[in-house]
Amino acid sequence: MKIAILGSRGRLGAALVRKWGAAPDGSGEKPAHEVRGFARPELDLLDPATIDHCIDESFEWVVNCAAQTNVDACERQPEEARLANTIAARRAAERCAKTGARFIHLSTDYVFDGRQREPYDEEASPSPLSVYGQSKADGEFAVLAALPEAVVARVAWVFGPEKPSFIDMLLSRALAQKKVSAIADKWSTPTYTEDLADWLGMLVAAEAPGGVYHLCNSGSCSWRDYGEHALACAAAMGLPVKTTKVSPLKLRDMEAFVAERPVNTVMSTRRFTQLTKITPRPWQDAVRDYIRDFPPC
Ligand SMILES: NC(=O)c1ccc[n+]([C@@H]2O[C@H](COP(=O)([O-])OP(=O)(O)OC[C@H]3O[C@@H](n4cnc5c(N)ncnc54)[C@H](OP(=O)(O)O)[C@@H]3O)[C@@H](O)[C@H]2O)c1
Repeated sequence: MKIAILGSRGRLGAALVRKWGAAPDGSGEKPAHEVRGFARPELDLLDPATIDHCIDESFEWVVNCAAQTNVDACERQPEEARLANTIAARRAAERCAKTGARFIHLSTDYVFDGRQREPYDEEASPSPLSVYGQSKADGEFAVLAALPEAVVARVAWVFGPEKPSFIDMLLSRALAQKKVSAIADKWSTPTYTEDLADWLGMLVAAEAPGGVYHLCNSGSCSWRDYGEHALACAAAMGLPVKTTKVSPLKLRDMEAFVAERPVNTVMSTRRFTQLTKITPRPWQDAVRDYIRDFPPC
């Protein structure tokens, strides 16, 4: 397949370019796909002409990983959030409708308000609390309206080697100091980019029907659980962390947060599992492998 990755310097986009553009490990075979990444300045979400230019007729699939992902920046600059996460997403889908490419658009658990007790499935109605969540929910709607066969892939708490995230920040703190803390009353499920690249690859291979898919590792945790598991894995691997305990913080005490965050956005991957017969592995295994394969320097 010839595949365009929009946002190829981001955490997920860079992982897709690396994994999909490389030969299977040690095989000496040709890579599975011909992958072309697009990043700034060649791609500017605020300049629709650059989106059209990047998506030419040669691509069979286009994956949109580019977005304004800073939740508080979106709250401060709602118009930029709308342009990047809604208008640009729609433009990319419209362009794919013209060129005949299949389109995968990445979205977020923040489309939900987080008040539900059970995991959210793909049929649950979005009800975002923040400008970021609203701009992504509007983006999903606009993409599917422009191109019903588009795949909207919602992910949560993405981590991986291409760009530091919560887990890297917590590990680096615990390597330097004895006391670390994290929010203990907000729950979701981490998503490892190595796994996510495989799952998205399965959707491509299966010519997945259009619509919404949830893609995250299985299980659920708070940021504190997530951090304590990461520290336990690091200690078991002999990394010189100064503590394996994470003190609890309350979401409501996070004065630096501008945007309201949903409390419980655990997602069910039912639709993906029905299509592929694959149940994503538990988040704990993914975190362990990440720390083993990409230890902090
Ligand atoms: N990270 C998470 O925990 C998380 C959770 C839920 C959903 N998601 C979704 O997953 C997708 C991928 O996220 P990620 O973690 O890979 O995010 P990321 O690392 O922030 O990557 C987003 C990319 O978009 C690019 N971008 C932002 N504004 C742009 C603009 N105006 N023009 C061109 N490029 C622009 C950024 O470019 P620069 O590098 O140049 O700034 C960045 O490389 C996004 O749709 C996000 O909403 C992520």
